[in-house]
Amino acid sequence: TEFAGKNAFVTGGASGIGMGIASALVRQGMTVMIADIWQDHLDQAMEAFERRGEANRVVPVLLDVSDREAYEAVAAEFAEKVGKLHVLVNNAGLGAGGRTKDLTYKDWDWSLGVMIGGTVNGLVNFLPAMIAHGEGGHIVNTSSMAAVLQPVMKGGVTYTTGKAAVLGMVEQARYDLAEDNIGISALVPGPVRSNIFQIHRTRPERYRNEGIETAPRRQAQVDPRWMDPEQVGELVVRGIRENQLYIFTHSMFRRGMQEKFSKLLASLPEQDDDPELMASLEMFLSN
Ligand code: NAI
Repeated sequence: TEFAGKNAFVTGGASGIGMGIASALVRQGMTVMIADIWQDHLDQAMEAFERRGEANRVVPVLLDVSDREAYEAVAAEFAEKVGKLHVLVNNAGLGAGGRTKDLTYKDWDWSLGVMIGGTVNGLVNFLPAMIAHGEGGHIVNTSSMAAVLQPVMKGGVTYTTGKAAVLGMVEQARYDLAEDNIGISALVPGPVRSNIFQIHRTRPERYRNEGIETAPRRQAQVDPRWMDPEQVGELVVRGIRENQLYIFTHSMFRRGMQEKFSKLLASLPEQDDDPELMASLEMFLSN
């Protein structure tokens, strides 16, 4: 993939990992629209791009990715102001917590509306035109180690549900998108320095609970030892270039992954293989 002169759209692009990805794509010579729900983040991001003399290749836009109508309008704005889309990064996400029994519809709708719904909105609004221009393209969904570990990370069931969904989406969509010259990768980050724990400030009005607020996630702090988002951005550039299925940032959770896959395999019933049945199912399996 050649990046220079091409265009990208990054959700949650004004902070943390999204900002790191946007920065790396701009360094590759792309023009990038950064979409974010938080104006302060957009302003700070634009100040950073101005300091680097790159602000002319970044277009900020205020967007709640879970809002279908707003997303459609922003996609139209992208086509008008920026042009053809080559790289779509579905990254906006939130680490909201809460115990399973306490979660309300609004809690579920917020988390899944942003992480799954926002990603779906990206595909529905951008993919047809991305295929039609014929220059090829790439999609990155930001998942999380929470989707591939056992035991999962402490956090929230909404989080792991959303992150597992966008990972599965990549694994499945990869096959039919390839026929249209579109690559797709799952970014699976470990701990990265970001504003992820300020997430209560990005909760849209329509998803707020009345009365009591669902218990916030235990007060967590981002640690200076966590990875620099700029470094994640560089890994994503390489992942896009090589059309990697998974873009991991850390190898430190290998044991948790091994545990998950061992548990899966150990749970299979004891049976003899049936090659004829297997052959009959081939039409359902991609390779
Ligand atoms: P961050 O909070 O610094 O960045 C997320 C950005 O998304 C913020 O600017 C926020 O305003 C924006 N956002 C939130 N809700 C939005 C909405 N409805 N519409 C549009 N924008 C919205 O956090 P971070 O860590 O950079 O998060 C980026 C992605 O990476 C998320 O999907 C997160 O779950 C994921 N992730 C982060 C890890 C970490 O250690 N920081 C680890 C694994 C995954």
